[in-house]
Amino acid sequence: MSSNASVAPVGVGLIGLGTIGTGVAKVLAENAAVIEQRLGFPLRLVRIADLDLETDRGVDLSEIRFDSDSDGLIADPEVDIVIELIGGYGIAKKITLAAIDAGKHVVTANKALLALHGEEIFGAAQGKGVDVAFEAAVGGGIPVLRAVREGLAANQIESVLGILNGTTNYVLTEMERTGEAFDEVLKRAQELGYAEADPTFDVDGIDAAHKLALLAAMAFGAKMTFEDIPTEGIRGLLPIDFEMAEHLGYRLKLLGIAKSLHDADGSPRIDARIHPTMVPADSMLANVDGAMNAVAVTGNAVGPTLYYGAGAGELPTASAVVGDLMEIAREIRRGRAGRVAPLSYPANELVALPLAGTGELFGRCYLRFTALDRPGVLAHITGALGERGVGIESVFQEGHAEEGDSVPVVMLTHPAREEAIREAIDEIDRHSHVTEPTRLIRIEEEL
Ligand code: HSE
Repeated sequence: MSSNASVAPVGVGLIGLGTIGTGVAKVLAENAAVIEQRLGFPLRLVRIADLDLETDRGVDLSEIRFDSDSDGLIADPEVDIVIELIGGYGIAKKITLAAIDAGKHVVTANKALLALHGEEIFGAAQGKGVDVAFEAAVGGGIPVLRAVREGLAANQIESVLGILNGTTNYVLTEMERTGEAFDEVLKRAQELGYAEADPTFDVDGIDAAHKLALLAAMAFGAKMTFEDIPTEGIRGLLPIDFEMAEHLGYRLKLLGIAKSLHDADGSPRIDARIHPTMVPADSMLANVDGAMNAVAVTGNAVGPTLYYGAGAGELPTASAVVGDLMEIAREIRRGRAGRVAPLSYPANELVALPLAGTGELFGRCYLRFTALDRPGVLAHITGALGERGVGIESVFQEGHAEEGDSVPVVMLTHPAREEAIREAIDEIDRHSHVTEPTRLIRIEEEL
């Protein structure tokens, strides 16, 4: 290392000293030697800004200027790269744009911000000739964005399928393991720190949609925001869904799915969606348990590839942030930013590809009806499906309800168009002997 002593360090300023920020400070301190060996010069955390100056984060900050002045940090000539770890769409956006405007490179883990305002932020960065890097935004410590953007750049990407949210994967794994209801498992997940006090973004699939929007943009060169993606979370799944999934040879996962489609005339479209999915129990994604994440990417040259690891957490996420810092630091030393466009495609190559509607999906579906246990109910349900050309592969109804009580009736359909299944469900759910909205769970066989 002494051979590199003459090369000046690249300076880093960190805004937001929460869990990930603390991890970044730790990785930069603990791995300083290997980072310097790999770069050929040191990476120095020169300044931190956070509103909380009191909490002991368990890391030595004595050599680092630490105050609440984020404007001062951005303007500081010793800071070459600004790390934004505040999160959210509001202040984080202002800080990111201010840093870019000041000619600073930015590293962020903020998927929400980029999945909504990516075009504006990347455009501003291009205008200023600075980089915006965000490996930590998808899959925490898993370097899946770099894999899609660079390692697989020679491919036409066919599909990206992933378990993109650790909180929901933990809840689903626990519901399956214990047979407990969603609310009980979620409460325990919150007590153990796996789920936030306000779990909305995670359990309703929004966090996964943020991540899928970024992955799909990179994979297909598609201009998209997360609001374009049909999103269904894991609320409303019942213990019986897990029992039936096991019986049928599947496991339940919240999948982010993005596929490249072509119309008959060859024009491209994207099928992108987030929803609970039954996946074959022996598939690799089915066996990703607890808070882990995994992303399967298939390219026309490489075939299927799989990326697995910790999707959140202090040190795994910091690993991705510091990897980005190193990449940008190399560019700074090289004297030229923008080696690879943030979304893999230069901004002028990104196109607004039409999205396929979920009604167009074709496949087998799991349907859970909740109906009064009366003669004729089953005939009505199968009739409504049959009239629309939806065949039934199997029917399950266990037990017998007292007069006036409901029972779950589960059906597995033959491959059918989802629009037809939805129409049948609409009709079925209007009938007075159906007491709860019917739940449809899609089955993904090709994993
Ligand atoms: N809340 C996310 C998850 C981690 O549960 O996976 C941050 O993206």
